[in-house]
Amino acid sequence: MAEILNCKPLAAQVRAELETRVLALKERGVTPGLAVIRVGDDPASETYVRNKERMCQKLGLLSEVLHLPNDTSEKELLSRIDEYNQDARFHGILVQLPLPKHISEEAALARIAPEKDVDGISVSSLGALVRGGDGFLPCTPKGILRILDNAHIPLRGKRAVVVGRSSIVGKPISLLLLRRDATVTICHSRTENLREITAQADILVAAVGRPAMLDGSYVKEGAAVIDVGINRTENGLVGDVDFESAAEKAAYITPVPGGVGLMTVAMLMENTVEAAERAAR
Ligand code: GUN
Repeated sequence: MAEILNCKPLAAQVRAELETRVLALKERGVTPGLAVIRVGDDPASETYVRNKERMCQKLGLLSEVLHLPNDTSEKELLSRIDEYNQDARFHGILVQLPLPKHISEEAALARIAPEKDVDGISVSSLGALVRGGDGFLPCTPKGILRILDNAHIPLRGKRAVVVGRSSIVGKPISLLLLRRDATVTICHSRTENLREITAQADILVAAVGRPAMLDGSYVKEGAAVIDVGINRTENGLVGDVDFESAAEKAAYITPVPGGVGLMTVAMLMENTVEAAERAAR
């Protein structure tokens, strides 16, 4: 039976460390600020944005949520991003995805000043991840590494399999694991013999967005299983991993809820505080 990597204590520890850094900034007259832009009425986005806002309040950060209507033009959104780029009160800017179809995600993300891209998912931040440099790491991948390190799970030379190739999770976590000397395989919806590949993984990262898709038969005995999925189903929130059967084989497994999602918000806060510290240097 696997050890369940409940992330509540780890997220609380990150928060406590951030409180100290926020106090130090405030003594210098700086309050870290995060601006979140949401366009339209995606229901999941509403929840995510509320969580981010709450966490800002808990930590004493300045937070502003700009909620724009679904028919907002791309030009209008870009000009709002420009305003936040110019506004020194905000050290971080996050454009919540998905955007309505008539707005280019690439254009919106590219407009965010790199030093304010605390979400870490713009071309410039992801480029820095490939090339090296001091861009912000995307929050979910950064949170996954923190979970693995906190549990002292070795990565060097180990076989990591990532299921999912999104720009927000799959691709960046693969690069981060590679940076830490894991041997990384990226699988996706067109991968043949998926089970054969995942069953070799010492570290298995599930980021496909399909409820309970990976059951125990996909898991190697003794593996560390990181479940990034947050699927809303009739049975409530369900990960991409079938928890019961996977936990029988894994040595470590993250729960949903109470796992990776908590770390995503914590890492967003960390990046925002870091952005404020950099700006105050
Ligand atoms: N939508 C779902 N996850 C994310 C995320 O990490 N960042 C942004 N900007 N939008 C999201």
